[in-house]
Amino acid sequence: MQITSAKYECSAISVEKCPQSDKLEFAFIGRSNVGKSSLINMLTGNEKLAMTSSTPGKTILINHFLINNDWYLVDLPGYGYAKRSKTQQEQLARMIKGYILRREQMVNLFVLIDGNISPQRIDLEFIEWLGKNSIPFTIIFTKSDKSRRGSFGKSVNTFLQTLNEQWEELPPHFQVSSAKRVGREAVLDHIEDIINNV
Ligand code: GTP
Ligand code: MG
Repeated sequence: MQITSAKYECSAISVEKCPQSDKLEFAFIGRSNVGKSSLINMLTGNEKLAMTSSTPGKTILINHFLINNDWYLVDLPGYGYAKRSKTQQEQLARMIKGYILRREQMVNLFVLIDGNISPQRIDLEFIEWLGKNSIPFTIIFTKSDKSRRGSFGKSVNTFLQTLNEQWEELPPHFQVSSAKRVGREAVLDHIEDIINNV
């Protein structure tokens, strides 16, 4: 899959305010700071497309980016950022869940997991919730460049083993580093496969 154009289109506060379009969408979710916005920039080759920050909680709206005038990448706010008010956390959770459950053209959700830490309960519970709601998803382990002495591979294996206990079949999964531009082709080919099989 070649990306020939990537344009920011809009930021929506709820699924109802998202673009009125039937173009296919691929959305990115995961804990705050896991690297969702950075990955969108890496895939599109435009470092300035989605706003990133070393402080968690940067993305707070549903952001649509039109790719090749044909389909969308969607940057979602992260979950699990404790330093927000309870009201704001609930509002973001409603926004995220509303989008995931009701956006019919969203054909795949990329769930980003930091590949450098042990499995986190919030991620496992979120994936379980996706399963219960039959949401098609793919796991992406992020920040592979931060690995020390094979720690990334070990954490990834532990996470997959944990999932294996709950799922009959593992979901598709990839490893990336946005910093070192690793995994770009594999993720873009996966998107192309999904588009071709819808
Ligand atoms: P929220 O919008 O707050 O939910 O965060 P996000 O998931 O969009 O994360 P973002 O892309 O803003 O990145 C968070 C931090 O992680 C930034 O400081 C990035 O530079 C850093 N980061 C993202 N990807 C990588 C990576 O592949 N390697 C390394 N070392 N750092 C990364
Ligand atoms: Mg972000």
